[in-house]
Amino acid sequence: MLGEEPYIWPRARVQESYFGKYTEIADNTSIIQSSIDDFSYVMEHCSVIYASIGKFSNIASMVRINPGFHPIERPTLHHFTYRAKMYGFGDQDDDQFFHWRELRRVTIGHDTWIGHGSVIMPDVTIGNGAIVGSLSVVTKDVAPYEIVAGVPSKTLRYRFPTKIVETLQQIAWWDWPYEVIRERFDDFKDLRSFLWKYGSVSFPDFHSKDKGFIPEKSSRILTKL
Ligand SMILES: CC(C)(COP(=O)(O)OP(=O)(O)OC[C@H]1O[C@@H](n2cnc3c(N)ncnc32)[C@H](O)[C@@H]1OP(=O)(O)O)[C@@H](O)C(=O)NCCC(=O)NCCS
Repeated sequence: MLGEEPYIWPRARVQESYFGKYTEIADNTSIIQSSIDDFSYVMEHCSVIYASIGKFSNIASMVRINPGFHPIERPTLHHFTYRAKMYGFGDQDDDQFFHWRELRRVTIGHDTWIGHGSVIMPDVTIGNGAIVGSLSVVTKDVAPYEIVAGVPSKTLRYRFPTKIVETLQQIAWWDWPYEVIRERFDDFKDLRSFLWKYGSVSFPDFHSKDKGFIPEKSSRILTKL
């Protein structure tokens, strides 16, 4: 069982990173200069660098978050220009270049799902509740509760109408203490009663024709719940 200490599998590599409670990092995954908040997990063969990941984030295997960019404006793309020491071309590596990479952080919100084999490009922000389909390349920000997929990723639809998205974000259940989540565990299995109980929103609101929302798709999702 997971606990207050992060569970880092023996073949994972972590460096200068923060891990919240009930977090898990699987084998052959590297986490560098990043934060992984409570209950989030990163499966096998992932690479995460310069990223802030919220709570309850689900990151499938073979995901790459923030792949490093090479200096495309220089005469060569090769990394010897910024890793001079490695090749005996100088005593100093190019700190400014590395700093530029560090500044291009990726931010991933709470309750997100990053599908298998996806790549999240530098500077991208993924909103709370969003889904990235498997094998996607995400080059632009993803809105809260948006579902994106493809290369480059595009909007498939939103998980819920705007009103529900707003309500879920107001409820911000991801900030509830562990004991509260435990007490309310069963409520997480029924969206309608969850919204009513904690957001005072009744079910008829689900079918309003909100911008960017495809009602027939959402109904399908709701029947799946
Ligand atoms: C994004 C996702 C959640 C959508 O699931 P869904 O709601 O059942 O979507 P559908 O199967 O109805 O697909 C809707 C459309 O998106 C397309 N699509 C779905 N996933 C896609 C993907 N990863 N890349 C590109 N297109 C995708 C479908 O082909 C379909 O296109 P169409 O409307 O032209 O026919 C799902 O496809 C996915 O990628 N899940 C991630 C699975 C995963 O990586 N799991 C790892 C273990 S946790």
